[in-house]
Amino acid sequence: MSLIYKGQNLYVDNTPIRSIAKKNITPFYIYSYKKMRANYQTFYNYFKKVNPIICFSVKSNSNVSLISELGKLGSGADVVSEGELIKALKAKIKPNKIVFSGVGKTEEELRAAIKSKVLLINIESESEARLIDKISKKMRRITSIGIRLNPGVDANTLSKISTGKIDSKFGLPKSNFLSFCRNFKKFKNIKIKGVSVHIGSQITSVGPYRKTLDVLYKIIKSSRINFEYVDLGGGFGIPYRNKEKKIDIKNYSKLVDIFKKKLNCKIIFEPGRFIVGNTGTLVSKIVFIKKNGNKNFIILDAGMNDFMRPALYNARHNIIPVLKLKKRINGNVEFVGPICESTDSFIKYKSYSLLNENNFVAITNVGAYGSSLSSNYNSKPLASEILVKKGKVKIIRRRQKISEII
Ligand code: LLP
Repeated sequence: MSLIYKGQNLYVDNTPIRSIAKKNITPFYIYSYKKMRANYQTFYNYFKKVNPIICFSVKSNSNVSLISELGKLGSGADVVSEGELIKALKAKIKPNKIVFSGVGKTEEELRAAIKSKVLLINIESESEARLIDKISKKMRRITSIGIRLNPGVDANTLSKISTGKIDSKFGLPKSNFLSFCRNFKKFKNIKIKGVSVHIGSQITSVGPYRKTLDVLYKIIKSSRINFEYVDLGGGFGIPYRNKEKKIDIKNYSKLVDIFKKKLNCKIIFEPGRFIVGNTGTLVSKIVFIKKNGNKNFIILDAGMNDFMRPALYNARHNIIPVLKLKKRINGNVEFVGPICESTDSFIKYKSYSLLNENNFVAITNVGAYGSSLSSNYNSKPLASEILVKKGKVKIIRRRQKISEII
């Protein structure tokens, strides 16, 4: 984590959060550039031998400044909508480093992707291929596509973020994949260049990835197509709390290296969470503290509209004080948001250090699927986003104005 205490005060790298919180309306997201760069480089180094194209998965964090910083480090982008495509282009990611995924791309979105000449449009149905062929013909283009395979592999992750099982909506099942490979020649305006897979997110063991590589190898051989690119998707899990298991990426990279050599193809990855998950913190102010029953409710100005993962997936993200006091609160503590829903609750503790109204707290490890999943529910404006880079504090998205949502 990029957060450390110096004395009682919480810092992002070398910058004290309290001084930023006093100058900006809470809640706000704050990111560490240093951590993001380190994560990117760690990922790259694991796969150095494979020399992959790393396409940062924009859905995990779609802030244009962050995408642009990653672009400067060498990253491409994995996008799933016209909005994400435009953001990636605005962040100066080259089209030949952009892959376009998604199960339900609209005609408008496909047209935008074809027009920008992205590296691959990863198709997920024959109907999509037909539509791409039709649009490409009208535009007098030959469009490069990848075929997303549904490998029928259980990623052993939360069921709500698992995508590779046979009954999930994603990709083409093996038999359809092969029949598509046999028949695609009827589409004159598309060129099959790649195959892609993505089996789920927050994956913490290599087993599912190994199975996927086996399935992929066999099906590529049976298809008799020399795919130039194999896009292995994302999904790399991160430890959210102390003692949580870490995925052994080094071990996986050895398997990918062998796989690549056997097939003589280029490898693409689409990591999201691994790159940004532990770089972000949501800073929030305590609005009120009250006791109901035997619980101390700490009511924050951040809610499920700002950060959805606990309400949506029962995800646990630690909350830590921005100023840590030695005294403790007696009894159970529950951190909740202001939204009128019982699921608007972040986390419970059996004991906690003393907090007062108007104190600041930090919700940790929220860099991935934090701001990108936030909404205007209860007509609350979107929070601002701040980047700490080399000691400088920069607003990389200003807080939305209420007038903008009316
Ligand atoms: N590629 C594809 C095709 C994807 O669908 C995803 C994520 C990724 C790459 C990036 O996966 P990552 O490396 O970040 O695991 N909102 C959920 C996660 C949903 C993931 C959706 N797809 C959460 O907060 O846990």
